[in-house]
Amino acid sequence: MPNTPPGFTHFGYEEVPLADKQKRVGAVFASVARRYDLMNDLMSLGIHRVWKRFAIDLAAARPGEYVLDLAGGTGDLAREFRRAVGATGLVTLADINAAMLEQGHLRLADAGVVDVPLVQANAEKLPFADASFDLITMNQVMEHVSEQDAVVRESLRVLKHGGAIYVATPNYLRFYEPHYKIRWFPLLPKFLGRWYLRLRDRDPVLLEQLTYTTNARLRGLFRGLGEEYVVIDLHREAFLKKCAQRSFASRRARLIGRLIRVPGLGPLILRAVLHFWRITEGGCEMMVVHHPETAAPC
Ligand SMILES: C[S@@+](CC[C@H](N)C(=O)[O-])C[C@H]1O[C@@H](n2cnc3c(N)ncnc32)[C@H](O)[C@@H]1O
Repeated sequence: MPNTPPGFTHFGYEEVPLADKQKRVGAVFASVARRYDLMNDLMSLGIHRVWKRFAIDLAAARPGEYVLDLAGGTGDLAREFRRAVGATGLVTLADINAAMLEQGHLRLADAGVVDVPLVQANAEKLPFADASFDLITMNQVMEHVSEQDAVVRESLRVLKHGGAIYVATPNYLRFYEPHYKIRWFPLLPKFLGRWYLRLRDRDPVLLEQLTYTTNARLRGLFRGLGEEYVVIDLHREAFLKKCAQRSFASRRARLIGRLIRVPGLGPLILRAVLHFWRITEGGCEMMVVHHPETAAPC
């Protein structure tokens, strides 16, 4: 934020000390922890489960791997990864919020998973040694933290050589607010958002601590990491794959798929279409992969 003094961040329209924002974020999630999954199910009619399944498939944890589900909340991803890594692997569930972890513990135990360490930790200052994990997942996390750069820095620090980070956030370019599940104007200024939420009889407290995160913002966060990292925009890749396989359902989309292959004009059309696609559909999903060949450990 341009005029925010050092050590301060925005919480809604207030400038608050960073530590204060973390406490307030904690309070928001503490108040919803017990109802979090039910609330998610009811508000998204179960779609978040499909989305998480998708995340699990994309991140593709393998037997023997060490996985960190960062800000993993009630542990949906951790539970699935635990199965994938098998007896020789390890999945750690970390979250800043004790109440979320408590729910995570109960849910994991219900599913018969008792060997996932639960660590109360701030993603901006992780209590793990360098190069500890093969895979780090952050699903719907970046928009809730105070310092996104610090989270990126810390994740890279604890990532092993050859490891990968999966990051997904809701798409704040849509005419839809994914937390409140209501129609919304993209990147709506918070003072208007607060007013609108009250009008719709919703509590604006969650809005206060959100950082609107877009595909461009995520790409910006991972820009300039150095040659040893490859940043994959999963949304773009999915689009290109559909084009290559000509697997679009509608005739219009198939036409676009052909147009983007037109020499000269194709790349311009691709940019425009991708932009449109990001506004209308999801779009904030990245994978950062470390290439061990380019930076072998000493
Ligand atoms: C929307 S929930 C997502 C939970 C989980 N990743 C999922 O996909 O269900 C956001 C989570 O981020 C956690 N969180 C927010 N700020 C954090 C921080 N600075 N460090 C660690 N966890 C944080 C919250 O406690 C909450 O559990």
